[in-house]
Amino acid sequence: MANKALLTINNLKKSYGSHLVLQNVDLSIYRHEFIAFVGKSGGGKSTLLRMIAGLEQPDSGKIRQHNQIITKMNVHSRMMFQEDRLLNWMSVLENVAFAVKKT
Ligand SMILES: Nc1ncnc2c1ncn2[C@@H]1O[C@H](COP(=O)(O)OP(=O)(O)O)[C@@H](O)[C@H]1O
Ligand SMILES: [Mg+2]
Repeated sequence: MANKALLTINNLKKSYGSHLVLQNVDLSIYRHEFIAFVGKSGGGKSTLLRMIAGLEQPDSGKIRQHNQIITKMNVHSRMMFQEDRLLNWMSVLENVAFAVKKT
């Protein structure tokens, strides 16, 4: 079906200890959409992206991409981290080779 969402998020909730970060998150993303999460620092944007990437699991709720519930590393996602991830004692090529070795 042409208008079916590629990624859906249903009733997502995530806390760290007693700190509630996200709740009641519902979202559908369709082909060709370009989505940005905007909000204050500490609002849970990166947490949401990590859950979409499968790097973290929600406390409850579901994320589906291509109709598969994301329960482990999401091979359909790519993530550019906010922090510096390069190892400055290695060359560019060695950095790339190191990342490839780890996946
Ligand atoms: N691994 C973690 N352990 C505990 N608290 C975390 C962890 N990751 C994020 N947090 C907390 O969750 C909240 C949301 O963080 P984050 O998703 O990084 O926000 P944003 O990306 O919107 O700035 C912040 O209060 C942050 O301190
Ligand atoms: Mg962030």
